[in-house]
Amino acid sequence: MTPADRTGSPASVPTALATRIVDLAAIARNIRRIREHTGTDVMAVVKADGFGHGWLEVAHTALDAGAKWLGVATVDEALDLRRAGVTAPVLCWLADPWTNLLDAVQQGVTVSCANRETLDAVAGAAGETGAVAEVHLELDTGMSRGGAPEAEWLALCVAAAEFERAGSLVVTGLWSHLALAVDPDPSSTDAQRLAFEHGVEVARSADLAPMTLHLANSAGALDHPDTWLDLVRCGASLYGIETVLGRTHGLESAMRVVSRVSQLRRVSAGTGVSYSHAYVAERDTTLVLVPVGYGDGIPRDLSHGGEVVIGGLRHPVVGAISMDQLIVDVGDHPVVLGDEVVLLGSPEKGEPDAQEWADVTGTISHEILTGLGGRMARRHINADTKATP
Ligand SMILES: Cc1ncc(COP(=O)(O)O)c(C=O)c1O
Repeated sequence: MTPADRTGSPASVPTALATRIVDLAAIARNIRRIREHTGTDVMAVVKADGFGHGWLEVAHTALDAGAKWLGVATVDEALDLRRAGVTAPVLCWLADPWTNLLDAVQQGVTVSCANRETLDAVAGAAGETGAVAEVHLELDTGMSRGGAPEAEWLALCVAAAEFERAGSLVVTGLWSHLALAVDPDPSSTDAQRLAFEHGVEVARSADLAPMTLHLANSAGALDHPDTWLDLVRCGASLYGIETVLGRTHGLESAMRVVSRVSQLRRVSAGTGVSYSHAYVAERDTTLVLVPVGYGDGIPRDLSHGGEVVIGGLRHPVVGAISMDQLIVDVGDHPVVLGDEVVLLGSPEKGEPDAQEWADVTGTISHEILTGLGGRMARRHINADTKATP
């Protein structure tokens, strides 16, 4: 039987071999939940193609659901938003002194600065364009990744205040990033908050009067009220990732990944499967070929405990995952060509989600979601209820 036979219409068979179905309504509900929870403004983090969900669709959804800001890593991501007509405030936090900042400054992108060199570059771009640049200064309060080290903070603030007086830029915000907000032990987060409060005092002593203070990522927004301040920067939680260890906040996964049974074979006990025959069938069984692989972002380690759902039942992914294909052992279950294969779905329906894949493969769901793509199609839907089609 072919997929066309099963659906009754060749036209209804998608050409893509796998599809990411993104429920924008779930993202909107997640944003509303966060807004109700914190009562602060929300910055929707749409970097890395909206964690794989589609940057522009997510940006529009987030703004419609009440997010006030959009957050991205690179200037290019910020300019993509502007080119698409998005006029909302956008912060980008990975400009460096060699980034071309002319368009960003001219188009009102807020640029984060963590060192004097980047601040000089922003002021230079402002001078060239005649626009007043908007800047948020980033302080390192304990993450030791980005941000000005505490020892350089005062000098950075003093320099920024001088540029303000010269009319080339205005510091509209101060921020920092939390390292351990997912941890139930709040001590590290508390220490970062105190360091940030001190940094704000230092900035004020240097004559800056920033309007927007922000510290919290999703885990801070969900579980550390002291970090909420004026704005919470949420990525993972928008997409339904429960970032706080052992806690659920009623967030909904927004991405479903489906494919179909492209080939089937019955094999005897003892048959070696896929490259290196790392899996050998223990009994007579049916093997299903699903036409997605690591070239589409499926982690190769998923064959060490990963499962998919076919016909409402879970079955193991077995043998080495190839670039374009993976194999599922469905035993004696009556699976036929064209059956839907749910790779990622809703745990409430017994389907795996990104967290389950992350647990199996030793990573975090963020990496799973942003890694998916390759040749997969993506379709956006607006499901009114929690049910997905
Ligand atoms: C600077 C910054 N703020 C906020 C976020 C959002 O964090 P989360 O996805 O944990 O909400 C990220 C990263 O994802 C980030 O790099």
